[in-house]
Amino acid sequence: MQRIRLEELKPGMVVAKPIYDQDGRVLLNRGVVLRESLIDRLKEIGCPAVYIEVPLAEGIVLPDLVKEETRARSICQVRKAFDDVQAGRPFDIEAIRDTVINIIDEVLANARILVNLTDIRTYDSYTFGHCVNVCVLSILTGHKLQLNELEMRDLAVGAILHDIGKVRIPKEILQKPGPLTEAEFDLVKKHTVHGFEILRQDYDLSILIAHIAYQHHERLQGQGYPRGLKDAQIHRYAQIVAVADSFDAMTSERVYRGAIPPVKAVATLREMSGEFFAPDVVEGLVSTIAIYPIGSWVRLTSGHIGVVVDVNNKHPNLPVVRLVLNPRGERIGTLTEVDLITVNDLFIDSVFLPEEMEALGLLNGQG
Ligand SMILES: [Fe+2]
Repeated sequence: MQRIRLEELKPGMVVAKPIYDQDGRVLLNRGVVLRESLIDRLKEIGCPAVYIEVPLAEGIVLPDLVKEETRARSICQVRKAFDDVQAGRPFDIEAIRDTVINIIDEVLANARILVNLTDIRTYDSYTFGHCVNVCVLSILTGHKLQLNELEMRDLAVGAILHDIGKVRIPKEILQKPGPLTEAEFDLVKKHTVHGFEILRQDYDLSILIAHIAYQHHERLQGQGYPRGLKDAQIHRYAQIVAVADSFDAMTSERVYRGAIPPVKAVATLREMSGEFFAPDVVEGLVSTIAIYPIGSWVRLTSGHIGVVVDVNNKHPNLPVVRLVLNPRGERIGTLTEVDLITVNDLFIDSVFLPEEMEALGLLNGQG
């Protein structure tokens, strides 16, 4: 299977992975053959991409850290909490706690799988899918930084609710397509303060959880908001959620721009490390990421082009690659897979974006 952007979808393509709405219902199921009308519908609901069966990437299975049902149920719980707060009702904190405990259990059981978050979100489910991913990434980072079980629960509850203050920001501003005015941005920044106020009252929650919402946009040398806190003034949990939040925002597919490949997102986080983000937190997260995820198309230093079919936990730089084109750009007839750990002097040179694969004819199997 292969993630294909909306503009590259064509009638006749077969869906390889279901897409869910914000209630956890299946919008588009595995095995469905795309028609023009379905593609139009995907455009309407703001679905930026779909996983498609591609002959050259046949038999590739993307491992999930969290089961699809768990993700769908979690998205639904987060949406309910946001809706309740928006309507002025208390949200069901026990349901959120149960959700988070489930996510922690699944993530830690699979902690040896390198992270390859593969969810695709529509306009409506973007925020909630993002909250769930920030929770997953924070748990992995917390685990690397050796937090204990109770600390992990507070971290995960704060991570999944870190943006709850957004319910008090006008939708027109949050969804504005163009750049924000200064006054609008000042309003958006307030979601941190609103989140703190929402979470500190009424619920039987550790105050640290409210501080995650309050501090997740603070940056190490004081460049962040709302208070411009520095270094140790920013709580550890908020430092973790800040990095997870940035990584997920960069690597998610949006309608107006493609996902940034993990290898580039990791490089950006490392550049910002020490100045904006705590270095040990960045390294904690980076050590869990599949920088060349299964299903990525890559060019090797030999000039061969291929698709990543497996990753090596200890050496994320050296995955297993199925060779598809030789250095002259011709199709390789026999199935050849190279484990880059086992060969000397052969490395990944670059990663292809989906639009570049189309140009090489890699999507339709002609090559
Ligand atoms: Fe935020």
